Amino acid sequence: MSVEIRGKLYEGKAKIVYATDKPDLIVQYFKDDATAFNAQKRGTIVGKGVINNRMSARMFELLERRGVPTHYVATLSDREMLCRRLDIIKIEVIVRNVVAGSLAKRTGLEEGVVNAQPVLEFYYKSDALGDPMINDEHVRLLGLATPKEVAWIRRSALRVNSVLRPHMARRHLTLVDFKLEFGRAGRRLMLGDEISPDTCRLWDVRTKERLDKDRFRRDMGGVEEAYQEVYRRLIGA
Ligand code: TMP
Ligand code: ASP
Repeated sequence: MSVEIRGKLYEGKAKIVYATDKPDLIVQYFKDDATAFNAQKRGTIVGKGVINNRMSARMFELLERRGVPTHYVATLSDREMLCRRLDIIKIEVIVRNVVAGSLAKRTGLEEGVVNAQPVLEFYYKSDALGDPMINDEHVRLLGLATPKEVAWIRRSALRVNSVLRPHMARRHLTLVDFKLEFGRAGRRLMLGDEISPDTCRLWDVRTKERLDKDRFRRDMGGVEEAYQEVYRRLIGA
């Protein structure tokens, strides 16, 4: 598909969104910039943009085949993804298979404990407020989504988990948890944003080595190598 890239619509922490000559299509440009703790910590992960773009494309294609609608249209280059333009719902949806990160902090459970069932959480997507956790009542109070949309989002997030978890496991990666964003394209809802080591926790199945952005968040070293290893396992050399 040939599209012409027009002006910048929005610059986020890890991506830039550009308009195109088609009003219903945008381009996501994946940067190497990394932030953590609401951008209090900043850095660069060399090559991350390419890996996140390629991995997201592969995961979106897989999800589409398994009946989850996504905003993915085409890969334009190493760092550019053509997507349907969404009206993003301001809810960050987290699905957790294994205790880690803020779930460990919130509950006192130890990192690595496997959840009997996936745990689904909503956070209010607001940099000003630092993305606080919210429940269905807050979603209603803030008018973020209708009850019907919330029900669809829950079902779809769990469906994404049931597709990605075994897919990763076959590649010796434990899908510990991940973050999704959904949006509206006209009257249709679909999955947006990205699926990458920035937005997923991925551990080696056997050694439990962390192969994701936690290496950057926690100053563990070997950040680039971890992203490359995920790329190798999911996309191939
Ligand atoms: P958490 O344990 O810090 O709440 O993170 C849960 C998951 O969400 C983890 O896979 C990382 C991802 N995540 C984001 O994608 N963006 C964020 O801003 C945060 C805090 C977490
Ligand atoms: N990207 C997020 C931020 O800077 C945090 C994270 O992924 O940990 O707020």
